[in-house]
Amino acid sequence: MSQDRPLNNAEMLSVLDWYRAAGVDTAMGEDPVDRFAQKPPAPAIMPPRAAAPQTPPPVAAGPVGGDPSEARQLAAAAGSLDELRNILNDYNGCGLKFRATQLVFADGNPQAKIMLIGEAPGAEEDRQGKPFVGRSGQLLDRMLAAIGLDRSSVYIVNTVPWRPPGNRTPTPEELELCLPFLHRQVELVAPKLVMTLGGPAMQTIFKTTNGIIKMRGKWQNVAIGAHEVDALPTLHPAYLLRNPPAKQQAWKDLLSLRMKMNSLGLVEKA
Ligand code: URA
Repeated sequence: MSQDRPLNNAEMLSVLDWYRAAGVDTAMGEDPVDRFAQKPPAPAIMPPRAAAPQTPPPVAAGPVGGDPSEARQLAAAAGSLDELRNILNDYNGCGLKFRATQLVFADGNPQAKIMLIGEAPGAEEDRQGKPFVGRSGQLLDRMLAAIGLDRSSVYIVNTVPWRPPGNRTPTPEELELCLPFLHRQVELVAPKLVMTLGGPAMQTIFKTTNGIIKMRGKWQNVAIGAHEVDALPTLHPAYLLRNPPAKQQAWKDLLSLRMKMNSLGLVEKA
């Protein structure tokens, strides 16, 4: 196949798909620029010291575009999950929104006693607007089924409701802007038990920098917004797909969740 022929439509679309999956989603110009061919800029001529202009001190780097106190105010105003979803749909403070296809608010049963918190939507979740519907979601469904649960007996959310470009981990600034909404969501659902999936969700909810391997399987009472709840960190299904022997540990955590449910009389199914 010649390397020089122009790409056909299907090939161009697949290149765009590939760029998008890699997080390249902004066109910078009409024409390509060969930056290797560019000459380095001429060295700047420094003014004499005495004549140095007085520049203002740099402004501390805040969250790009958003104000966490605005996010807190907006989230606190939501009196129901529907209101919260509408507020989030209109919210423009977090840059993730502009790279994502749509809001991924939640899935499952808002009346459920068990809440699962993942990290962030991936490509399939971004397409469908629901958390955990890709490959790791299918494994999650099987994990839940193993202890007699399904999406009618749990409520599923993520720490951020928009897909980070290229599936990267959300930045601390993005988390800070999205957390008030997650906190309000937890307050409105008021689950009796929470299970976090994977390291980033665990670190966010347990407010720790410890790793997931150290933390998983240990119940702790945590405050999520104004809601206090017993929470259990477990491994992320995507990690289990890459590392099947770790399913043994996830199974222990699932049994621990089931036993806790039984001991609290939260017998939904099974
Ligand atoms: N991984 C997550 O953490 N959340 C999803 O919704 C999908 C994959």
